[in-house]
Amino acid sequence: MQQIRFDFNNMFSGSIGELHGVTAKDLLKLSKGIKACHKHLSEVISDPDARVRLGLEWAKLPYQDRAYIAKIQKLGNYIARNYENVIFLGIGGSYLGLKAAQDALTSPYYNEFPASRRKRPRIYFDGNNLDPDTLSILLKNLNPEKTFVVVVSKSGETTETKAAFMVAEGWLRKKLGKNFGRHIFVITDPESGSLRKRVARENRKDRLSFRSLPLLKGVGGRYSEFNMGLLHLAIIGVNIEDVLRGARNMADRCNGADYSRNPAYMYALLHTILYQDKGKSLAVIMPFAETLKSTADWYVQLLAESLGKKYRRKINISCHGREEWLNDTRIRVNIGRTPIPCRGTGDLHSVQQNNIEGQNDKVITFIRVEEFRGEIKISNRKDMLSGKSFSGLMKLAQEATEWALVRENRPNCTIILPNLSAYYWGALLFFFQMATAFEGELLNVNAYDQPGVEGYKNYMYYKLGKAGMSKQVIKEIRNTLLKKNKKYIL
Ligand code: PA5
Repeated sequence: MQQIRFDFNNMFSGSIGELHGVTAKDLLKLSKGIKACHKHLSEVISDPDARVRLGLEWAKLPYQDRAYIAKIQKLGNYIARNYENVIFLGIGGSYLGLKAAQDALTSPYYNEFPASRRKRPRIYFDGNNLDPDTLSILLKNLNPEKTFVVVVSKSGETTETKAAFMVAEGWLRKKLGKNFGRHIFVITDPESGSLRKRVARENRKDRLSFRSLPLLKGVGGRYSEFNMGLLHLAIIGVNIEDVLRGARNMADRCNGADYSRNPAYMYALLHTILYQDKGKSLAVIMPFAETLKSTADWYVQLLAESLGKKYRRKINISCHGREEWLNDTRIRVNIGRTPIPCRGTGDLHSVQQNNIEGQNDKVITFIRVEEFRGEIKISNRKDMLSGKSFSGLMKLAQEATEWALVRENRPNCTIILPNLSAYYWGALLFFFQMATAFEGELLNVNAYDQPGVEGYKNYMYYKLGKAGMSKQVIKEIRNTLLKKNKKYIL
């Protein structure tokens, strides 16, 4: 069976010169650090307790129990048979993986087709914004009797998702009366949070109300597609086992210390050198496949939240040998490459001008698909396009873009997918997760927290009068409230 390949030719000085490309000397300089990073990462991953405590349980998700997967697949089929619409409510890591899967693995225009063609429910995503238009229009146009709502939130407290769920719940209750909870499914923390408590209460009254699945301990939102995304995959008719087999294959390819044989390590390593030594702080992710645009959006979150950090990681080891990761507030680094999603070929007519001629501060990662699901041959008129296929033109456009970048000494690399199957998509996601984890080791930051996101949340909670906020946070907000000078508003 073919495998995903990672082509990094155009990241080296041989292609793009020493000023912008990686040299053998650069690689050598990092090689000692690479061994230490691998040792640390693999030790944490092989220790079940550390894995959960430090947020790396995602590394074991490809190896999940088959009987459990079969149960979810069955449940998804049941929901698909019984409902015309399913609304998924969630944001960030509780949304982007689902959207990526849906766009990559179902047919384009999936929702637009008649039910007889689709044979599955229409899927809608909400609770990922506070824009009142989307949810209000959606609920106005759906029939609650034929609609199922899945709320995904690890904490159960995220404002966007919580607000949307409150509205959707009220909408179901109003039309369905006491059985409304049978149309609700909850994916949340196995023990804590208000959603989990609610599940327990509703289950006690009626075990078919507020059914639920756990978002596992040690699996953070952006690393959770192979956990919280499973029911969604089952509902849209994707074979979960295929996705996990692909992820497993990639996990097996990415567990060795030798970076010359480990695609995720090589990816992380070359990007780190280009970032730290050659000033390439922007990470453009550019799939040449319309259906992978949302996968690029998913990667944007993975990279931004995992590696965009203010402080270095501080590893404390207690007397029992247990590791604890803290932010080292003495060493402020404000580190992390800035991800930018792009799409080939559409964005060749927009952002690409800047990629080619703007500041040379980017690395472009292409995703190329060797074989698309469909094919179109252009016929008729006498033209240079006659007889050509769309997929052939797509490949040519990607090759041409690589060439144009190399000509301007712009580093770039290509991830090559044999086709757009569930297997390769699962492998692709795991590749990015492992590459990000390794990049976190190389930069020595905690790739599993997102303290920067708390700022806006706390400000909102303060203004909304949330109970139980820490006195220190309240004091800090009061002392730093936004002040606007009218002079500066025209
Ligand atoms: O990656 C993460 O952990 C975050 O992006 C979360 O997924 C996001 O903030 C949503 O959180 P929750 O699932 O608790 O609603």
